[in-house]
Amino acid sequence: MIDLHCHYLPFVDDGADSLEEAIALATASAHDGIRHAVLTPHVFPGQWDNTRSSLAAGFEAFRAALRTSNLPFDVSLGGEVRLLPESLELAERDELPTLGTWEGRRVVLLELPDSHIPAGTHNAVAYLQARGYQPMIAHPERNKDVMRDPRRVLPLVKQGCLLQLTAASVTGQFGSKALKTSLVLLDGGHVTAVASDAHNLAHRPPRMGMARMALATRYGVDAAMQLTEFNPGRIIGMLPSDPVASDPQAASQAEQGG
Ligand SMILES: [Fe+2]
Repeated sequence: MIDLHCHYLPFVDDGADSLEEAIALATASAHDGIRHAVLTPHVFPGQWDNTRSSLAAGFEAFRAALRTSNLPFDVSLGGEVRLLPESLELAERDELPTLGTWEGRRVVLLELPDSHIPAGTHNAVAYLQARGYQPMIAHPERNKDVMRDPRRVLPLVKQGCLLQLTAASVTGQFGSKALKTSLVLLDGGHVTAVASDAHNLAHRPPRMGMARMALATRYGVDAAMQLTEFNPGRIIGMLPSDPVASDPQAASQAEQGG
């Protein structure tokens, strides 16, 4: 599996607070069946003042330390960007960390407040889209507006946002409302990826394996793989995109043997 959302990079947010804990989280990930994790420290101006540049040296040091552990596990650097005016300024300065690309656009993982969908969200999304970013909304199933009515997130989907659910929501570990909301969004085919959002071993461990099993039980193995492996892999560039699936003209030529 490929994990698009976790907080292992030590010392930069509310995730790992030592190199030992970070390595332990990576080890737990590998044992869970995750082979690549995009490290997504909070980029939250005023609270976690991280930027693409400021995170780079710490990331390289962690990756070097990880390599000495000989785990079958690799990492890349992204970020979980709080949707604030100051974050849009970071986009202007090319300082937003991104997960990878989706249809040629850089994927930015956007965090909304848990309480509601702020009034300016659509304008902010349009602002990012106009600058070549592909917004992906992090854990919409944990947003109280969306929990009350999952349809509240659909205008963002229609606008072109991708959705990422948290594994613990899909397994029911975050409660019945998060589970119910997750299932509505999954049933509607609105979800691109399920990720761990792991922070620590005690309370927020990396457990994508259980989520993949739950997804496979309800939606089938192919759908479970799509959400935990193929779509995330496509974003980080580990799997070639499928021209037949993404290009109707190519599909037509393939059917005709062309
Ligand atoms: Fe997160």
